[in-house]
Amino acid sequence: MKRIGVFTSGGDAPGMNACIRAVVRTAHFHKKQVIGILHGFDGMIKGQMVPLGPNDVSNIIHRGGTILKTARSKEFMTAVGMRKAYENLKRHDIDGLIAIGGDGTFKGCVEFNQKFKMPFIGIPGTIDNDLFGTDFTLGFDTAVNTTLEAIDKIKDTAASHDRLFFIEVMGRDTGYIALYTGIASGADEILLPETKTDIGSLVKLLKHRQKQGKSSIVIVAEGDEAGGALKTAAKVKEKLPEMDTRITILGHIQRGGSPTANDRILAARLGVAATESLLNGQSGKMAGMINNQLAFTSFEKACKARSPLDRDLLRITEMMTT
Ligand code: F6P
Repeated sequence: MKRIGVFTSGGDAPGMNACIRAVVRTAHFHKKQVIGILHGFDGMIKGQMVPLGPNDVSNIIHRGGTILKTARSKEFMTAVGMRKAYENLKRHDIDGLIAIGGDGTFKGCVEFNQKFKMPFIGIPGTIDNDLFGTDFTLGFDTAVNTTLEAIDKIKDTAASHDRLFFIEVMGRDTGYIALYTGIASGADEILLPETKTDIGSLVKLLKHRQKQGKSSIVIVAEGDEAGGALKTAAKVKEKLPEMDTRITILGHIQRGGSPTANDRILAARLGVAATESLLNGQSGKMAGMINNQLAFTSFEKACKARSPLDRDLLRITEMMTT
């Protein structure tokens, strides 16, 4: 293998740039060339490729987003799209790929590999932390810290006005961001897609806190089965119309920003491991960290298996929320 391609795909996540840097510099260390593919699978189809040397990735380690841009490509999932992508990769003499993204990205890699036998290694990059085969995904730690800073600020104003706040955080299918930020901010209730939301007991709790003259913070994961913050707040408002309630949807602020030290180090470890394993002939696997040790998981398993919420943390929330 002489030349590898690297791309980012799906939702961007802080730490992707640090990871691109690690891939490029590891390949250079082993005297291999790297081509950066722009806009994920879309750029592969359109032939948007640029050579990347060690100097091209200078001064990006601290930047959020992805210098390679990202996209979600429908065309790639068609036979014609995949063929075009393969021909462009061959035109650039690319004989192996590093994909930084989430489960949608890895599903695309599995199909592509089945058709064209193109070796792939994946790196988990998503703020949602929802991939099986790694304790943490790139961007999750940064997203948690960004979200926490925002919640702390909302707590100040909530307490000053004795108000009830519903704060919606990202997590379409999983409550990892909600769980971590809920515990770290000392939230009064945390609503997660993985657990049943009981509006009746939420109302009881909020009433009790109101009687004590306390403000309340409820963290809602966007994918909670009772609906996001807007729907949940409306249901509570029906029962507690007199309560002074506000809603904040934090949204895409959670996806941006400079990566934390943890995310940069994770990016370096996974970038080096993924590149070296690809150069050593591995394929079809995602590099991850389990119990602070490198671990490789097949794409099939990383996509299919669910990453369950930490039971210990769930138990803690029961005791910490009053
Ligand atoms: O990056 C993951 C995620 O943040 C989800 O939690 C969220 O639902 C989704 O991306 C939104 O992404 P977009 O606006 O790019 O479709």
